[in-house]
Amino acid sequence: MKTLIRGGRIVTATDDYHADLLIEDGRIALIGHSLTVEADQVIDAQGLVVLPGGIDVHTHFDMPFGGTTSADDFASGTKAAAFGGTTTIIDFAIQSRGHSLQEGFETWLAKAEGKASIDYGFHMIVSEARPEILDEMQRMVDQGVTSFKMFTAYPGVFMVDDGGIFRALQRAADIGAMIAMHAENGSVIDVLVEQALARGEVAPKYHALTRPPQLEGEATHRVIVLAELTKAPLYIVHLSAADALDAVIAARDRGLDVYAETCPQYLFLSYDNYEEPGFDGAKYVMSPPLRPREHQERLWQGLKTDDLQVVATDHCPFCMKDQKVLGRDNFAKIPNGAPGVETRMSLIYDGGVAAGRLSLNRFVEITATMPAKLFGLFPQKGTIAVGSDADLILFDPSGETRWSSVTHHMRVDYNPYEGRVTRGAIRQVLSRGEVIVDGTQFRGREGRGQYLKRHSFVRP
Ligand code: URP
Ligand code: ZN
Ligand code: ZN
Repeated sequence: MKTLIRGGRIVTATDDYHADLLIEDGRIALIGHSLTVEADQVIDAQGLVVLPGGIDVHTHFDMPFGGTTSADDFASGTKAAAFGGTTTIIDFAIQSRGHSLQEGFETWLAKAEGKASIDYGFHMIVSEARPEILDEMQRMVDQGVTSFKMFTAYPGVFMVDDGGIFRALQRAADIGAMIAMHAENGSVIDVLVEQALARGEVAPKYHALTRPPQLEGEATHRVIVLAELTKAPLYIVHLSAADALDAVIAARDRGLDVYAETCPQYLFLSYDNYEEPGFDGAKYVMSPPLRPREHQERLWQGLKTDDLQVVATDHCPFCMKDQKVLGRDNFAKIPNGAPGVETRMSLIYDGGVAAGRLSLNRFVEITATMPAKLFGLFPQKGTIAVGSDADLILFDPSGETRWSSVTHHMRVDYNPYEGRVTRGAIRQVLSRGEVIVDGTQFRGREGRGQYLKRHSFVRP
């Protein structure tokens, strides 16, 4: 099967030019001016920007958490991702306490197989650092799971003590793996939560008030010190606060292999959302929580100056109706997480490129190229080059997109960006050369997504 994309403006992390693009058997075969080749299908991309498909390295599909399960499974979640211009996701498989990494890996493979419509890989959440688990990390790497998430938060569920984190970092350094850290001081947060509840402070906003930014800054600094001692690469997930960014900047200035992602919610939403009427603040209960507005511009600046390398989503949706409501009388029982897999690319284009904060090349870099490089997918994914998978977005910069829970494809009953209009519109999305989104039509298929065996960490 040959597809020719004619006359588009091709933009990668480094290039920006007009050319034709020939796709053969799912890969980019030829790029050139006025190509005279036979093709089964010709797509006219005049006036459109051809971008690498987005890579979202932080999703939680079908994830048991907070007494319920995230509302999107791999079918609905990957379809929503595709509509949002994301053609690859890396989801978090979980090693539950008392179980092995292999069991977690096989459980998540079974969740995805036959359902995912875009390509996918897995990180592995390590919830215990027992010797058998540390020994199993190599087996994961051999199967393409080359990054492991650990937590300094959620005591009793995912939190591992500093000694355990240190051991896992040592092992990661030995086997070429990356440790991704959820950095908040969970033990102190638990004290603040207990004290707030004792005072009768049960509303959603207390979720944020009991998780102050200093506790993210402290934990980020702490895990950076541990990573420095072990010489392991470290990736801070869902960085939300200037306090944590300062720790990352200091580490990177010292030349350490420290990387960090932020998420659109921390760039577009703020503590003010918790003050919405009634129980609506529950929509934004996630960890780390939304921060006071002044943190936003620091994060945009971090993206611009490469102190932050990635925008991912931490997509972890729970419906207001049956799920968030579990914490109506106690903010600590509100399932933590929010939807975002569909809105990421549009929001970052709008707030980044259209608002003049980021170049189009930098937009590609933080949404596709760096995620691919940091997580062992480059150059198969994350760029437009001969030999790379033909994962592409045909993007219309003159269009606009209106966001609503009525029209989005995520299986959740609210949209944190309800009513917002973003500049630019996604016209078509291709995954390995197949048009999977065509305007408002989904032309993909459940189960067509392939498991991606990722390679070991290579410094980008
Ligand atoms: O609130 C969040 N972030 N939920 C998902 C789990 C996690 O910590 O990433
Ligand atoms: Zn987390
Ligand atoms: Zn997460």
